Amino acid sequence: MEREKLVINGGNPLTGEIEVSGMKNSAVAIIFGTILTEGKCVIENLPDISDVSDSLEILSSIGAKIKRLNKTTYEIDTSVIRPGSSPYNLVRKMRASYYILGAELGRFGKAHAAYPGGCDFGTRPIDQHIKGFEALGAKVDFENGYIDADTDGKGMCGSNIYMDCVTVGATINIMLAACRAKGTTIIDNAAREPHVVDLANFLNASGANISGAGTDVIKIKGVEQLHGVDYAVIPDMIEAGTFMVAAAATGGDLLITNVIPKHMESVSAKLIEMGVNVEEYDDSIRISRNGPLSKIAVKTLPYPGFPTDMNPQMCVLMCLANGVSTMTEGVWDNRFRYVEELSLMGAKITVNGKTATIEGPTNFSGAPVKAVDLRAGAAMIIAGLIANGKTEIDNIRHIQRGYENIVEKLSGAGADIRLVTFAEDTSVSVMN
Ligand code: EPU
Repeated sequence: MEREKLVINGGNPLTGEIEVSGMKNSAVAIIFGTILTEGKCVIENLPDISDVSDSLEILSSIGAKIKRLNKTTYEIDTSVIRPGSSPYNLVRKMRASYYILGAELGRFGKAHAAYPGGCDFGTRPIDQHIKGFEALGAKVDFENGYIDADTDGKGMCGSNIYMDCVTVGATINIMLAACRAKGTTIIDNAAREPHVVDLANFLNASGANISGAGTDVIKIKGVEQLHGVDYAVIPDMIEAGTFMVAAAATGGDLLITNVIPKHMESVSAKLIEMGVNVEEYDDSIRISRNGPLSKIAVKTLPYPGFPTDMNPQMCVLMCLANGVSTMTEGVWDNRFRYVEELSLMGAKITVNGKTATIEGPTNFSGAPVKAVDLRAGAAMIIAGLIANGKTEIDNIRHIQRGYENIVEKLSGAGADIRLVTFAEDTSVSVMN
């Protein structure tokens, strides 16, 4: 058995340029969205990550014909789809696989798929998805790890749905289920994330009639049919934010390209508050730092608030600041599982409920650690980049779910980072 690890020798500032890939959370929604088009779509700027290849594999397993046109562009033909036939183990690998439910409901008026997997942040209920599907006319049942939704041949019917909390996943799933429904659907208290807007733009380009995406009221006038379309996914704001924080943490000077600066406002504002230089251009951001960092308080919130998916990375930067900073998690029940790993590297963080108190400055020292989830893995990489000595990160399959070519991108900007494969018996062979 072989296992992969990341090995980082810390101390090099990030300099030069890094290009951001397409957005994971948008890509996965659009890939499942193609089911509604019943035609050929060409989707560009898909990040080369395992959540995308797993999503494409699910589509192919239910009948879609998929051609890779180049590294980041795929043709997806969903003319023939067998609803309800997605394999249990594939769907369990990731959270976004639940978009297959909204998409199958939208096209066939019935759906059947395994309960989704994904990162462990404590409980991850899907009650708002179910509430939405039921409001649109489906009866939803759970059996043997599967979710079954059916309108008994009647198809989806537009409805007014008030979301009890702001949820990206349920907003997207309801948009998918409603865009070919009879009548109009209004989603109130909808999520405003850029990937919600990107999915709406993709669906509208395919013939849907969705307005208000990006605000908290989305109106979906049902149309009979969608058609295939060419579409490019937006850049990944969380990948961009990760590189922004990494550049600041290493005291580097880095131009991050293929960015929509508007999406980065909350991250940029907090970096500026800490004393980092942030220069915005049309589609890039330059980050540099040569002075000390100031302590700050951050609370994660739905967009346009500070993203929860930047909580772990930002905590590493806060460890470097003088004084006591706080990180309050406003989205997930338990997003602090990475704290124990950072402590192994010298961080002084105490967690009380949803708030972490971070005492700085920390001199990180390299250690063997693991990625407990995707963004936690990104935080371990940043800590490794600034630590004295060698850091080895295990469990990197989480990182590979969401960061395209992270080793190549960071080493191109001066980091000493390698992917190594370990045979389970101690011998090591270097791949990169
Ligand atoms: N919630 C409910 N009921 C629901 C759905 C959500 O109570 O039916 C709650 C959740 O428990 C949570 C909050 O609402 O407290 C927000 O959950 P949301 O539905 O917005 O999260 P998600 O759609 O499951 C997406 C991203 C996550 C990101 C969150 C929040 C995808 C595939 N995943 O998850 O991204 O943390 O939104 O922004 O889009 C990541 O990329 O690393 C990642 C975990």
